[in-house]
Parts: sequence; C-alpha cells; structure tokens
Amino acid sequence: MIIALDGPAASGKGTLARRLAAHYGLPHLDTGLLYRATARTLMDSDARLDDVAKAVAAARGLALTDFDENRLRGREMGEAASVVAAIPAVRAALIDMQRAFAQRPRGAVLDGRDIGTVIAPNATVKIFVTASAEARAQRRALELRGRGEDVDYYAILEDIRKRDARDRDRSDAPLKPADDAKILDTTDMNVEAALAAALAVTEAAMEAIRA
Ligand code: CDP
Ligand code: CDP
Repeated sequence: MIIALDGPAASGKGTLARRLAAHYGLPHLDTGLLYRATARTLMDSDARLDDVAKAVAAARGLALTDFDENRLRGREMGEAASVVAAIPAVRAALIDMQRAFAQRPRGAVLDGRDIGTVIAPNATVKIFVTASAEARAQRRALELRGRGEDVDYYAILEDIRKRDARDRDRSDAPLKPADDAKILDTTDMNVEAALAAALAVTEAAMEAIRA
C-alpha cells in the first residue's frame, strides 16, 4: 500500500502523513526534507543555491536518515528548498531514493509535491491536501512561533504565496494534483477532522482494491 500526499506549503500534508503512517504501521518519508537538506548543505558551504553542479552533488550525498530537522524547518529553509527544487538535475538526483522508499515491502507513506504525479504514479491512495493561503499562513506562523521564531503573519503569507507560485510555475514536476487524486480542502478542518477524512479516502481505496 502506497499512500501519496501532495499539496502546497503548510496545508497539513506532513501531519496527515505521520498520522496515517502511525495508523497503518507504515514507514513515512517527508520528501520536502530532501530539498531542504540539499539547500542546507549548499548554504553551509557558502555555495549559491543556483550552482547546479554543487546542488546535484549535495542531493546525491544525502542519506535518508539523520536529518537535523531543527536546522531544516526554519522560515528561510522552505524558500531555499523551493529554489533548488526547481533545478531539474536536482530532482533527477533524488528520484531513485524516493522510489525505493515507496517500494518498501509492506508499503509506505510519502508526502511532498510530486508523489502522486512523478514518484509513485501507481500509488494506492493519492490525496492532494490544500487550504486557503490565509489558513496556511496562520498555521505556519503558529508553528514557527512555537519553534521560537519571531514571525509576522503577513510576512509568512507573502512567503507562502511566493513559494506556491514558484512550485506551480516550474517546468519540472510542478505542484498540481494528479488526475486521480482526491482533493482534501482542510481550510475549515482541524487536524482530527482532516485525519478522519483522509482515513475515509484510504479505506475506500483499499475496499475498491479488495472488491
Ligand atoms: O507538511 P505541511 O507543510 O503541508 O504542513 P504541516 O507541517 O503538516 O502542518 C503545518 C501546521 O499546521 C502544523 O503545526 C499542524 O499542526 C497545523 N495544522 C492545523 O492546524 N490544521 C490542520 N488541518 C492541519 C495542520
Ligand atoms: O512543509 P512545506 O510544505 O512548507 O515544505 P516542504 O514540503 O518541506 O517542501 C519545501 C520545498 O521543497 C517546496 O516548496 C518544494 O519546492 C520542494 N519540494 C518539491 O519540489 N517536491 C517534493 N516532493 C517536496 C518538496
């Protein structure tokens, strides 16, 4: 069973992915961490984010374990990740490890932008998680404040709009729902309600396979 969750920044896909993975006892890969860690490696060595050769080397050098999430979740890292994620050679360097993860024996849960469209087009369940930019900015601002960052809601809203546009407009694996994805708009849902909806979609997909 492969569960693919895609969607824009702070839509709640990561939270849903973790909860679904725990529910079904499946491994989970947050693929955004791969792009964040690639950008972090470049920044740590004072390289430019658009240095393609260095970015590809950084992506190839990643190990799926030992992500230092503390250093990857800061406000500037989402933006930096979306810059390296627009480089086709970086995306190509990260495909095999994501596909291998998806092919784990009992299945896997992956969340990102292109799981249902590129990484696992044959996923059992595809959910495109979305919410209004305002709701997402509110969530991200709360989350970053919880991490001790002093952020302004309007600045986060601007970040989110800019990142959505960059992710949607890139040529390689742009952010868009797969044709067969179920759209889950969580604007007016709390985490529990979103989880109940995602579980219902997943159970229906499994039922359809059994039938
Ligand atoms: O992975 P993604 O960036 O899509 O979002 P996330 O990290 O799962 O969620 C961002 C924040 O929004 C977290 O702090 C969640 O607890 C919160 N959230 C929420 O308040 N309501 C939801 N329906 C989903 C997430
Ligand atoms: O949690 P949030 O949605 O804010 O960000 P993320 O999922 O960690 O992704 C950070 C950036 O990495 C995104 O804005 C995308 O540009 C890129 N990304 C991607 O291109 N493809 C993926 N499968 C996952 C992330």
